[in-house]
Amino acid sequence: MWGLTPPELKGAKVLELGSSFGGNLISQAVYYPDTEFVGIDLSDSQITQGNEIIKSMGLTNIRLETKNILDITPEFGMFDYIIVHGIYSWVPDNVKDKILEVCRENLTPNGIAYISYNTYPGWKSREVARDIMLYANKYTQDLPLSEQTRRGKAIVQLFSDAIKSIESEKNNNKSRINNFDSIQTKGDHYVAHEYLEYHNHPLYLNQFVDSLHQHQLAYIGDTDFQLSYISWMPQHLRDMINQLSETDYVAREQCLDYLYDVAFRRSLLCHAHLQDKINRTEIIDKALLNKLTFINQNKENNLSNIFNNKDAARLLEHFIYQVGHFTIQSLIDHVAEYKEFENLTENQIYSSVLLAIVLGYINVFLTPYQTYTFEDNKTYIPKRFTQYSQALLEGANQYIGAGNMYNCGVENLNELHVYMMSQMETPTTKAALNTSLKAYLIKNGYKDMNNNEKLIDEEFDCSGLCDSICTVLADLGYIQPATL
Ligand SMILES: C[S@@+](CC[C@H](N)C(=O)[O-])C[C@H]1O[C@@H](n2cnc3c(N)ncnc32)[C@H](O)[C@@H]1O
Repeated sequence: MWGLTPPELKGAKVLELGSSFGGNLISQAVYYPDTEFVGIDLSDSQITQGNEIIKSMGLTNIRLETKNILDITPEFGMFDYIIVHGIYSWVPDNVKDKILEVCRENLTPNGIAYISYNTYPGWKSREVARDIMLYANKYTQDLPLSEQTRRGKAIVQLFSDAIKSIESEKNNNKSRINNFDSIQTKGDHYVAHEYLEYHNHPLYLNQFVDSLHQHQLAYIGDTDFQLSYISWMPQHLRDMINQLSETDYVAREQCLDYLYDVAFRRSLLCHAHLQDKINRTEIIDKALLNKLTFINQNKENNLSNIFNNKDAARLLEHFIYQVGHFTIQSLIDHVAEYKEFENLTENQIYSSVLLAIVLGYINVFLTPYQTYTFEDNKTYIPKRFTQYSQALLEGANQYIGAGNMYNCGVENLNELHVYMMSQMETPTTKAALNTSLKAYLIKNGYKDMNNNEKLIDEEFDCSGLCDSICTVLADLGYIQPATL
């Protein structure tokens, strides 16, 4: 989308700085056995736990190392992708500098790095709550972080309630009240990290880009296209931003941050020598869009308010919310098949998809959504998927979340799925699967939910359950042709 040609994932090396237990890398290591993943973190206990999880999953293309970012040298090796998530604005300046130095010294010439950070102006207003919470714990620093978090949340709640009780203050402080109240809805781990950690130094996008230039790196754009593109905006806003920023793309994005009070950015960067290759026109070649796979981003369904063309809105609503994944070709085929879309032109299909990408309704991937359905004696599930799912069920999920091939969260796996996966490690038949599933249900005292919770016995028909489990496993991309 940005006009660059980063290395192919197959055979690539990926480094995560501050990887913690490896949650961002492990699910990808399962899906991409030909890609090498390395994570480093200061915390020896997290790295040890992460390596135990990796060992129990039998993964050999990922390793985690206890290491300070400050100790990475060019000898640590070259990487095609470097991930730095939830670190940059939470570490002192010398570590920030070092992160950028690693991106310069350890990134291959066409590689891409990703750095996320808290940003202004969005964080200006949140800092009030952070200051209150830090002050509330000024003399209780020896308490565990969980207790400090509880105290911090409670005091912010007290102030929110107090402000709401004063009529004149209530109306003048709506956004402060919103900020305070939203903290109560956040998990303790998140609140501790954002509001109580000693280091939390948000920065403006333009300051971040200045630092990149000092390290001979180039800013590409945000992973959220809405924070980089302006072509989707109403004309008067585009005119205003263009007038203010002229040809300066950083000023343009800075204007977006002022406008939307942005608090968090996920920036992509590359080596400075690629600067002139970056496509900032917001015009994307059809040939490129044809190669991509689009995945639902679970954003609320209100496309009809956004698309002027109602047919385009209906078409995309169907593919985003019912199908969940698609390509341009699948849209074109659908339009050709259904008369209700006969007025929709190809150009309208392309521009609607682009708008859905920019507004974050779909995410884009070069890796196709390649899945296979179960076939008697022709498909199997590689053992690594079974070991991965089993380890998660047996407790690894306390430390890392389950992810699919696009690193989206997976929630619907249970013991039955893992058992069925273990039965599919070599090619088999549906009949054999039905038989073994029934035996498993009987042996483990499962009840029939559709029949007064009666214990499952030999009479039970397993085929529906077996099919639905196979569908889940197929959708996850676990089922593969035995000939691959
Ligand atoms: C908020 S966590 C983010 C973990 C992970 N990147 C994620 O997205 O889940 C920040 C991590 O950075 C690590 N960290 C902080 N400073 C570091 C340093 N100088 N060198 C290595 N790791 C560091 C911490 O130990 C912690 O595990």
